[in-house]
Order: sequence, then structure tokens, then C-alpha cells
Amino acid sequence: MKDERRASILFVCLGNICRSPMAEFVMKKLIADAGLEQRITVASAATSNWEIGNDIHTGSQGVMRRHGIPFEKRQARLITRKDYDVYDYLIGMEQENLWDMKRILGGDPEEKMRLLLSFTGKDRDIADPWYTGDFESTYADVLEGCEALLEHLKQELD
Ligand code: 4NP
Repeated sequence: MKDERRASILFVCLGNICRSPMAEFVMKKLIADAGLEQRITVASAATSNWEIGNDIHTGSQGVMRRHGIPFEKRQARLITRKDYDVYDYLIGMEQENLWDMKRILGGDPEEKMRLLLSFTGKDRDIADPWYTGDFESTYADVLEGCEALLEHLKQELD
């Protein structure tokens, strides 16, 4: 990996309190473990304004604590058009997130938008634990997706 190459990732979901912050902090842990903090930056945002300003859902906090993923207090925020210029990858948790992002940001001319699980070869949604209550299954999908995304980035930045 050449030192000058960098990547920035924005994880996106509906509320920015369950899945995308989970992906943000899982990815930050994987990046830190790989010693790539100076090269890859990560954040997360919502496609709806329903939870703006709210901290990570206690269910996502609990699953991250159980799996040793450090996280910080944060406030959910809405995705903006500026995010399209700032981030190299805009990663949705489910297909609806991609449709909403394209509507809010006015399309995806640079093809920056992907589903998280697409990096694993599984082109499917990650279930929303806000509705399922199953934070462990969501965590397993998020971890698998983030591990595959990190492998993809290592190749891209090489
Ligand atoms: P998330 O889950 O998109 O994974 O953050 C949700 C959080 C809140 C709501 C829906 C989904 N809500 O309806 O407020």
C-alpha cells in the first residue's frame, strides 16, 4: 500500500442510530487493528430526519459492547449533497437506502454507492434491527460486510 493513497467511507441507513453507526465503529476497529487509521476515514449518516440528534440505539450499543467494539457518544445526522463530494464510498445497508440516497443527492454519477454486503458477493439487504429486534444477526452481517470492504480497500489502495 502506497502511503499517499487514502479512502473515505460514509455508511448510510434510514435512522443512523442502529445499523450505520454499528458499521462505522466496527469498521473503525478493523481499520485500527490493521494500522490504517491514517489512510481510511469513516463516518455515518441517515436518509431520514426521524432520529436526528439522537445517540446510538441501546441495542447497537449492547451488541458492540459484547463484541469488544469501542464506540463514542454521537448524534445521528442527515446525509447532505456535500457528502457526495467528501466521501469516496457511500455504503447503504439495504436497497432502499441506495434509492433514498440517489433521490436526496441527485443521482450517483461517480458510482460511489454500494450495498455493504455486495463486497461479500451476497447482494442482499442487512435487516433493520429497529424492526426485527435481532441486533446479533445484524452485527454478524455488518462484521462480514466490513471485513470484505476492508479487503476491497486494501486492494484499491495498494
Ligand atoms: P437504522 O434503524 O436505519 O438501522 O438506524 C432505524 C432507526 C429508527 C427508525 C427506523 C429504523 N425509526 O423509524 O425511527
